[in-house]
Amino acid sequence: MNILVTGGAGFIGSHTVVELIAAGYSPVIVDDLSNSSPSVLKGLKNILGTDVPFYQEDCNDYVKMTEVVQKHNIQGIIHFAAFKAVGESVSEPLKYYRNNIGSLLNILNVMRANNVRNLVFSSSCTVYGQADVIPVTESTPKKKAESPYGNTKAIAEDILEDSVKAGLDFGIISLRYFNPVGAHPSAEIGELPIGVPNNLIPYVTQTAAGIREKLTVFGSDYDTPDGSNVRDFIHVVDLAKAHVSALNLLQEHTSEPYYNVFNIGTGRGNSVLEIIDTFERVNNLKLNYEIGPRRPGDVIKIYGNVEKAATEMNWRAEKTLEESMEDAWRWQKKISNL
Ligand code: UD1
Repeated sequence: MNILVTGGAGFIGSHTVVELIAAGYSPVIVDDLSNSSPSVLKGLKNILGTDVPFYQEDCNDYVKMTEVVQKHNIQGIIHFAAFKAVGESVSEPLKYYRNNIGSLLNILNVMRANNVRNLVFSSSCTVYGQADVIPVTESTPKKKAESPYGNTKAIAEDILEDSVKAGLDFGIISLRYFNPVGAHPSAEIGELPIGVPNNLIPYVTQTAAGIREKLTVFGSDYDTPDGSNVRDFIHVVDLAKAHVSALNLLQEHTSEPYYNVFNIGTGRGNSVLEIIDTFERVNNLKLNYEIGPRRPGDVIKIYGNVEKAATEMNWRAEKTLEESMEDAWRWQKKISNL
């Protein structure tokens, strides 16, 4: 079955391409390379031993997307392509709404016109905001987004749910990712942030590699066991496999319009300081870090209840935090020639 993977040259997208092929699907990548590198395609080839069809296109382009869908007889889409820098979304909201919402609407219209039924959408635990009760389940009330980025995920979920409620012939699953970390154990693909990383793990690995002088821990006076923020850090390979499970599940629901949403995390919370400790321990090194002020907009503590995905999709994260930290460092060493 041919699956269009938008954003397939990105961090989560590229790892999902590997898992799709392992599961017998045939992925086709569309990526505008605005936040990814063509070197990812080489890494994929080294893992897979074969080229994956690739088109450098913008998902907002109806004509180009239609061409790809028709040429490859696409039967399902995984839509990763989106901007994801929370801070930038505050200063450039229109860029975020155009790209993240515009491309989703375009994809849905291309799907309708070409009878493509199935879509897996990249949502985020950001839709919960600072939840009152943790771990969050899929029925935990959503909170108003703190940023335009977060709002694009909340709006996108509403668009998808409304489309299915209206009876459009779609089967759609939104996956609410927690914090993806790690890299492919082969070190052929991993996270490739452009410029100064916003996210914790690439900042940690770049500091260990000497690219950044020092990591700043954003706050250690929160109401958490060690005072730093708590997140649910999931290995990107586990996260990638959840997309295969979602596609499989969609094929069991073809008789009527279908929408569902799943938390995709480990079910465990780890603090920022625990991450540093684990990274140092498993890789046998010392990280230069200091405690700094809180980062505005940070949620204090979140992790997910992931039983729904286990029960309904037969999916569960399997890798440990230790494996994530080893794989992230192996990848950083490879790209830094260490
Ligand atoms: C947030 C969103 C997530 C979104 C992601 C996109 C929430 C709960 N999560 O992730 O849905 O997909 O942005 O980028 O809203 N940290 C440091 N020092 C650093 C960098 C980070 O201490 O240099 C800390 C942060 O304060 C935070 C943790 O590390 O507590 C994780 O931060 P980050 O990797 O940026 O992800 P989130 O903010 O959790």
